[in-house]
Order: sequence, then C-alpha cells, then structure tokens
Amino acid sequence: MPKQPLVTVVGSSFVGLTTALALAQNGIRCRLLDTDAAKVGTIQGGKAPFEEPGVHAALRRHLKSGRVSATASIEDGYRGATHVMICVGTPPQWDGAQDLRFIKAVARSIGEEIHGRKRGDYLTVIVKSTVVPGTTMGLVREEVETASGRKAGRDFGLASTPEFLKEGTALKDALHPDRVVVGGIDKRSTDEVLKLFKWAKAPVVRTDPTTAETVKYAANAFLATKVSFANEFANYCAQIGVDWYTVADAIGHDDRIGRRFLNAGVGFGGSCFPKDLQAITVAAQRAGRPLAIAQAALDINGRQPSEVTRVLLQELGGLERKRVAVLGLAFKPGTDDVRESRALEIVAEVLEGGAEATGFDPLVKDQFSKALALQHRANFTRAERMEDAIAGADAVVVQTEAEEFRALKPALVKRKARHALVVDGRRILDPVAFSRAGVDYWGVGIGMVRAVRRGKRRT
Ligand code: UGA
Repeated sequence: MPKQPLVTVVGSSFVGLTTALALAQNGIRCRLLDTDAAKVGTIQGGKAPFEEPGVHAALRRHLKSGRVSATASIEDGYRGATHVMICVGTPPQWDGAQDLRFIKAVARSIGEEIHGRKRGDYLTVIVKSTVVPGTTMGLVREEVETASGRKAGRDFGLASTPEFLKEGTALKDALHPDRVVVGGIDKRSTDEVLKLFKWAKAPVVRTDPTTAETVKYAANAFLATKVSFANEFANYCAQIGVDWYTVADAIGHDDRIGRRFLNAGVGFGGSCFPKDLQAITVAAQRAGRPLAIAQAALDINGRQPSEVTRVLLQELGGLERKRVAVLGLAFKPGTDDVRESRALEIVAEVLEGGAEATGFDPLVKDQFSKALALQHRANFTRAERMEDAIAGADAVVVQTEAEEFRALKPALVKRKARHALVVDGRRILDPVAFSRAGVDYWGVGIGMVRAVRRGKRRT
C-alpha cells in the first residue's frame, strides 16, 4: 500500500502555518518544524504567531484532529516524513539582494536527514519560500546533495511550488488557489507534490523548478507595476483636473486590463512586493538583463508617500509645530503587519519636517513605534481611538482603506481637528461631502477639493 503523505513544513510563520492548515483541512498530515521554541509553544497552545482571519480556529481544530503538530526538534521534525516543504524567510540584504542563509541551513539539515535514511526511503524536498530563479536547482540541490551524498532526481525528489497567498485572506487563498504551479526536477518529483494538492479545484501548471520560481516573481512584479502605473497616472490626472478613479473604472471594463490593482494610493507596502521587486531587479541586473519596468515600479513607489507631505506643506504653509493624524498604520487593512507600511514613510517625513504625528489603526499596537527610527519615536503617539488621533490635528491623513476610516464623517473632523484638512491617501472618502461640510479635501488621483465657504465651492 502506498504510504500516506506526512509533510514536514519547515518554518511556521505566515506561509508555513497557513499552508499546513490548508493541507490538513484536506486530510493531509503536517508537522511544523521551527527552531524558534517559543513560536512552537504558542502554536502547540492553539494560537497562531500572527493575526489572520480563521487561522486560530483552524489551528485548534487540526491540533485536535491530530493532522497538525509542531516541534522545535530537528530529529523529531523529519522523522517518517514523505515530503519536506521549505517555508522559511528570505529577507533582503543591504543591497536588496536576497539573503538565502535560512534556506541554505534548512537544505543542509534535510540533506543530513536523507543521509541517515536507507536508500529507497524517498523524501520529496519542496521549496515554497519565495526564492530568486535558480535557487532550487542551484543552492538547494547542491546543499542537499552534499550533505546527503545522494543525487536529486534519483535518490530524493526536488521541486519548487510558489505560494500566492495575500495577507488578510491567507487561509481562504490557500484553500481556494487560483492555480497550482509545480516545478519538479523530474516527473516523479512533480507527481509527488501534486499528490498533496489533488483536492485543489484550480488549473495545474507543471514545469521545471526555475520556471516555477520565476512565475512567483513575474506575478508580484506585474501586480506591483499595475499599482505604480495607477499611482503615476493618478498624479498626472490630479495635475490636469481629471479623476483617475473614473479613468480606472473605465479602462477596467476592458477585460484585457481588468479593474483590480488599479487603486491609486500612497504606494504598495508589505512583506512581499517591495522585497520581491528588489530581489528580482538585483538578480536580473546580475544576470545582465536589467528589468527596467520593475525598477521603475519600485522608484515610483518610493516617491509616492511624498505626495502626502507635498500637500501638507502646501496647505499648512510648513510643518513646524503642526500635528498630523495618520489613520492606518499597517501596510493595508485587515492586518497588523507594518512591514514596509507607507505610514512609516509618511510619519518619518512629517516628523522630519518638524511636526508631531499621532496614529491610529484598529489592529496595530506598539509594533509601529518600534519600526520607526529611534530619533522619531518621541514625536509619535499612538491613539487608541480614531477620534483621539484626530483631536487637535492640523491635518488628517488616511493611509489605509479600513472600514472604520471609510465611515469617517466630516462633522467629526470639524469638531475635533484644529484645522479641517483631510488628505485621503486611498480615495475612500466622498470629496463632495467633505467640501460641502466645510473641510478642505485632497484625494490621490483627484487633487484638491476645497471646502465650500460662504456657500461657494472652489476647486
Ligand atoms: C501580495 C500578492 O497579492 C500575493 O498574491 C502574494 O502571494 C503575496 O504578495 C506574497 O508574495 O506573499 P500582499 O502583500 O498580502 O500579497 O498584499 P496585496 O493585497 O497584494 O497588497 C500589496 C500592497 O499593494 C498593499 O500595500 C496595498 O495597499 C497595495 N495596493 C494593492 C494598492 O496600492 N492598490 C491596489 O489596487 C492594490
């Protein structure tokens, strides 16, 4: 009888834990292996080490069903596994290139495990971490082969299967993937990975490891480019008195273009787009074929938060002794993740201009202040409620499209703020309602809509 799969998932952060839960939900046994014993303890106690809808409940369910377990012991971690899925982090180095040291260490430990197994006790090594093209066939293969003394393809399986999860909907995305991309070194490796995803109602792309790795970068680079394209056009639209959002809706009807990811804003953040674009542009540069469009998307993104400071300077006549309220501290709504959040850039620019900043986010706690540069922490205060952040502010900046901010009423700004100015960095508020209520409104992709004073509205 064929062996039932037992998947060791190395790395129990966002991708590892979510993937394990999706597999467990579909009847596959998974064992999380993480060298961080505190994290393992948290998971064993039924709590995920991050906030993500549905994850805590699914974790408790599958700890109980026995389909998910967690360990910090390498020896226990690999015992009896049929597959090992590498889900560890690939952080950026100082120059944006990818730091593959965790991948290397895990590949080596897998090699040692294979070395200790009898020949024929086949293990499929799967790379799920986002790694630059060539990593699975290069570094991973070499490390596992050297440490095991065995050969990839002949003695063990090797494949890459990138993930496409979004923060805030990770478990849902994992359970309902758009596509399953598997690049195996040979047919057996690809088949072994596909065994784990038989349940997925999604198109399957069978390919080689380097192509699979490239799919991940091309997807993220394309989406990030769409956002930067929207931001660049939105800035131009505001300049000539055109509303980008009307333009985006109109072009979005063309299904070759599509409306999604055309929302202009203060730029993209998070743990993926900025880091992945940097890694792939450095990799392409090194390969002698620079990716000019991906580089431009990054450059535009780097400049976009300054649109906010430009408006504040223009409207407030300087930032000295002013107070700016920032609504939304995470990189997007529905998460407490502040990595590469545009709020960090906006707050830093505002503080450098001599102002103070107060921030509010329904999910973010002290991690935002900790992510600020040391010299900025004293002049930033986090408020527990939206109205406390707005109280006494000279300007209110909307940085994410959280539901709570969509419901922001002009009356609250008029009542609480020192100066009735709203800078809508995500275009979620109604410019007309704000200007009619006597609030100066600036929105990305539309520009300034002045408060109606003495019955007249000036734009
Ligand atoms: C992104 C991709 O969407 C996932 O498919 C991918 O798996 C993931 O990266 C990853 O590589 O792990 P995520 O970073 O969670 O997912 O967030 P997105 O919802 O894609 O948003 C990224 C950034 O783009 C956010 O800052 C968001 O505010 C911004 N954005 C998005 C816009 O400014 N405008 C838009 O129209 C859409």
